[in-house]
Amino acid sequence: MKILVINGPNINMLGIREPDVYGAKTYQELTEFIEAAFLEAGVEGQIYQSNHEGDIIDRIQQAYGDTDGIVINPAAYTHTSIAILDALKAVGIPAVEVHLSDVDSREDFRKMSYVSLAAERVIKGKGFEGYREAILYLASKRAD
Ligand code: DQA
Repeated sequence: MKILVINGPNINMLGIREPDVYGAKTYQELTEFIEAAFLEAGVEGQIYQSNHEGDIIDRIQQAYGDTDGIVINPAAYTHTSIAILDALKAVGIPAVEVHLSDVDSREDFRKMSYVSLAAERVIKGKGFEGYREAILYLASKRAD
């Protein structure tokens, strides 16, 4: 089983970026955490990060026919991108949306998510642990 984790804009700045909101751990530490979750779940995993909406869409399209589950933190594109929503709907791959912070308890504009319309689950405010839960959820859907 193959799971793809996609992180959107500014997630590569973890550790530097607003540590009061996102914590002091770095993006490198996040990728190590995700790799450990792949191992725990017994899945083949890939991790992708981009600051560019079109690149994220290209990566989702590439996953078609090749990937069994997508974990996506679209970051700010969560609240703006109908194109990422459409890409997820186009490929039809089970997806879980993850946010490090609790977007519901922040500014009003963060409460709205286009991407969640294509997500089986949305996990918010659990920090790195949200990625682990998302990976374990998708792995539990494995047909075997
Ligand atoms: C985020 C929340 C978004 O509102 C924000 O734009 C981000 C990160 C999160 O993980 O909490 O960049 O997706």
